[in-house]
Amino acid sequence: MANDEASFALTLMTTRQTILPKRLFAPGPSVAQVNDMFRAAAAAPDHGGVMPWRFVLVPGDKRAALAGVFAQALIERDAAATPEQVSQAREKAFRSPFVALAIARLGPCEPDVEPLERMVSVGAALQNFLLAAHSMGFGSSLTSGQAMRSKVLRSLFRLTEGEQAVCCINVGTADRRKPARLRPDVAAFVSSL
Ligand SMILES: Cc1cc2nc3c(=O)[nH]c(=O)nc-3n(C[C@H](O)[C@H](O)[C@H](O)COP(=O)(O)O)c2cc1C
Repeated sequence: MANDEASFALTLMTTRQTILPKRLFAPGPSVAQVNDMFRAAAAAPDHGGVMPWRFVLVPGDKRAALAGVFAQALIERDAAATPEQVSQAREKAFRSPFVALAIARLGPCEPDVEPLERMVSVGAALQNFLLAAHSMGFGSSLTSGQAMRSKVLRSLFRLTEGEQAVCCINVGTADRRKPARLRPDVAAFVSSL
């Protein structure tokens, strides 16, 4: 890799930042751009080649179904949730032009790769996706919350026994840039034997 390409990649990685869905607007990525983001995801290290991830797109005409899941999951874990809280939960499903659910495949697999290692792969796939979106000028974020573990979500996305919903991936055009977040010093997390 040439020096200027390495420098571009480093800048890309160090300038990515979370842009939450409420700040992501149209235009969203095209079908071809989304395909490239998933190609980047598929370039993640994957011990044993077990593909421990899958992604489910949530297009505009399915956002109401996702909203229903967010509302139902809230009511199930908090029967005292107010109508306003339920409506806020529903509203979250309609933000961001692009939404997909990231799912980790952690059940038995061949070859038998530790679930911990498979989660590392899922994280790497997600990061590659976010970096690809960032390289195209889009804002992006990952959002999770307790709904990820709910039965209603598992049912809507037809999760099988070994699968776990990790988070939503949101991509769109950011209304404005945030100030850069202070990153930890390398010395704070690297030592030598
Ligand atoms: C699996 C996963 C789920 C996340 N879910 C949320 C979320 O529900 N809400 C949120 O504000 N941020 C969520 N985040 C984003 C982190 O909060 C964010 O990365 C962190 O605040 C650092 O910001 P940065 O990405 O700009 O460095 C999630 C991150 C990961 C890895």
